[in-house]
Amino acid sequence: MTELIEALKSAKKVGVLTGAGVSTLCGIPDFRGPQGLYRQPDAERIFDIDWFDRDPSVYYRGCRELVYGLGDFQPGPVHTALVRLERAGRLAGIATQNIDMLHQKAGSSHVYEVHGSPVVHACRHCGDVKTFDEIVAMIEANGGAAKLGEPYVPRCACGGPYKPAITFFGEMLPEAAFRSAQELAISSDVFLVLGTSLTVHPAAGLPRLTLQAGGKVFIVNGQPTSLDDYAVRRYPDLKEFADAVCAAFATSPLS
Ligand code: OAD
Repeated sequence: MTELIEALKSAKKVGVLTGAGVSTLCGIPDFRGPQGLYRQPDAERIFDIDWFDRDPSVYYRGCRELVYGLGDFQPGPVHTALVRLERAGRLAGIATQNIDMLHQKAGSSHVYEVHGSPVVHACRHCGDVKTFDEIVAMIEANGGAAKLGEPYVPRCACGGPYKPAITFFGEMLPEAAFRSAQELAISSDVFLVLGTSLTVHPAAGLPRLTLQAGGKVFIVNGQPTSLDDYAVRRYPDLKEFADAVCAAFATSPLS
């Protein structure tokens, strides 16, 4: 990791793109890794807006633990390493495809959630808004029915299903977050790509913006990606990356 650490120390501006791989170290499965969620049949329907409108129980069944159990998960080594980098003045921001809110929980302050998050839910019919905690309470109060094989769908008083502010396939990305992520990628002379298969666009195109602007890209991902040939290097192990960053920036204590 010497080359990567030296680049972090000498860069004018460092930006990061994270994906589901950074949270596998916290026990949350990724999508396309060896144990990924999409290895299950029909799992791609879970985050599909047409499927949600046809049958919202597909989403609530698939995400009951993945999303509504998120309160039980804690940030892992990569989240912590990125907080250290920020506190050392070496990290401008994080564009994340993740919906688990763990970067914020770890203490990172400039996080752009390009695929949204479940922090709020809105009724698909009338637009009424509920917080994540309110939806979790509704789901927990109805756990019995779900256990009997009737997946519970939280519904508004008007009858419409609540949909999380996660970007489903078939929906536009949140405009402000994606614009900030693009600006971060363009203005970073070193851009780290951490734990993403780089298969879902337009987020997967962010590192190309850095390359087009003359910056360097480093990738840390277990599987090969389509940008490996354009990166300075791809390293396979995120835990090794986190340990190397924490060792190199150890003088910035976490409060
Ligand atoms: P993927 O599951 O596609 O990719 C995660 C990558 O992380 C895989 O290539 C793994 O090999 C790698 N990985 C996992 N654990 C690792 C470790 N400990 N060390 C090194 N590499 C590791 O996840 P994303 O690229 O984030 O969309 O997926 C993009 C989008 O697809 C997601 O945001 C999601 C999904 O549909 C929505 O939820 C809207």
